Amino acid sequence: MATATEKVTSPQVRQTECFIGGKWLSSASGKTFETLHPATEEVIAEVAEGDRADVDLAVDAAREQFDGGEWSRMDARDRGLLMYRFADLLEEEVEELAALETLDNGKPIADARAADIPLVIDCIRYYAGWADKIQGSTVPVRGDYFCYTQREPVGVIGQIIPWNFPALMAAWKWAPALAAGCTMVTKPAEQTPLTCLRMARIAQKAGIPDGVINVVPGYGPTAGAAIVEHPGVDKIAFTGELATAKIIQRAAADTMKRLTFELGGKSPNVIFADADLDAAAEGAHFALYFNQGQCCCAGSRLFVEDKVHDELVDRLIEKNKDRRLGDPFDPETEQGPQIDQDQFDKILKYIEYGNEDGASCVSGGERYGDRGLFIKPTLFTGVTDEMRIARDEIFGPVLSVLKFSEVDELVQRANNTNFGLAAAVWTRDVAKAHRFASQVRAGTVWVNCYDVFDAAAPFGGFKQSGMGRELGEAGLAAYTESKTVTVSLG
Ligand code: NAI
Ligand code: MG
Repeated sequence: MATATEKVTSPQVRQTECFIGGKWLSSASGKTFETLHPATEEVIAEVAEGDRADVDLAVDAAREQFDGGEWSRMDARDRGLLMYRFADLLEEEVEELAALETLDNGKPIADARAADIPLVIDCIRYYAGWADKIQGSTVPVRGDYFCYTQREPVGVIGQIIPWNFPALMAAWKWAPALAAGCTMVTKPAEQTPLTCLRMARIAQKAGIPDGVINVVPGYGPTAGAAIVEHPGVDKIAFTGELATAKIIQRAAADTMKRLTFELGGKSPNVIFADADLDAAAEGAHFALYFNQGQCCCAGSRLFVEDKVHDELVDRLIEKNKDRRLGDPFDPETEQGPQIDQDQFDKILKYIEYGNEDGASCVSGGERYGDRGLFIKPTLFTGVTDEMRIARDEIFGPVLSVLKFSEVDELVQRANNTNFGLAAAVWTRDVAKAHRFASQVRAGTVWVNCYDVFDAAAPFGGFKQSGMGRELGEAGLAAYTESKTVTVSLG
């Protein structure tokens, strides 16, 4: 077993089956699917392909554990202690987990080591601290009554996870659910099931009771839909595409499930002429190209004040030239491959749209190499608001630069989208920064920084970028129901 300090470049794939009620089971159908390493497109492993029958078993296990109450009625502080232990065991395997993430997702090992897995551990520790701090209140009602509220776990949670941050998105959903005393059935993305399965084994080793965490790998329209439709599931927490969220919302209406959604974005990143241009250029580069552009909050609409436009574009082109693409296991690599052929094709199609719609491609614009799903960091200038590359979520390394001169017009343009996940502003003028932060319709605003995440800071979307919040106290509240108790004192 690897320790935290030992570098791992060929992780062991140990878990490939469904994890249900603490047991590792083949899928009921016996079917499996392949998961690939996107840098070489080679098969890593055959993974159990869960479907409705497997989801039924997993929901039964989660229901039994929840209704039996071992987890939800455990002393809250002990639940927290088990979570701390879970985090400690994850930390012992941080290198192995990072390497497994890089193998399955293709992201640079440097990112998996510095960001994904440490953030998983931090998120679990943050919520472990909440487990015994979930409180109600006393309510001053009229009459001779004593009234109080208490917060109780929502129940069995169905969690549907995307492939861009496979371990971290599972942690964002597991940690508050565990703290609240919920039990769960998790479906990792079909592209990236491996770290979630490994984390489930580690949770079991930490002593989290069987049936609390269940994992059913498989596809969305089969295993995913079965979770959404199951009457034994009380809530769905989903991260992924807006179109999928709409399918889920409709299907969940039949059983009136609670829903939280983290969806896409077309986030405006605004650079004023008075900004620190070195920091702004570095921030704009990172805001879009980080994680191969596969971030829900990617700063994909870069609004630059006309006075500094050309200078900034020059700097961005230079940065793209220096960006190191290649083997994601090389610790120097900054950009790996896209996740799969569909995403690769979608991104190249949007590059064509950019050219067709009259934008200028000043950097990249094509695949990199001839093996693996790599796309060069791509930069379009002369982008106008109605172009497809300025409107749609591309989810790849394609940055659109839009020029502005008037602040009022800028705010209106920044808000002219159905999305509202994130925004950023670069300026040395404090008043300007706060004014923009209050006027932009987005769930997160970064000032002179980008992609600064913390388990304590709520994250989620305005408008069609989502529903509810993850992380922080708000993220915890979404895994609880409020109960009002009124006692006659007469
Ligand atoms: P997707 O929304 O189809 O997949 C996300 C998860 O939902 C996966 O686990 C998938 O199996 C599941 N799923 C798919 N259909 C389902 C259904 N009918 N019922 C229940 N679960 C279902 O996203 P996909 O196809 O992987 O990517 C398409 C686009 O979505 C991307 O190009 C990007 O624009 C966006 N996206 C956004 C993400 C975000 O972080 N907000 C993450 C992943 C994708
Ligand atoms: Mg899909």
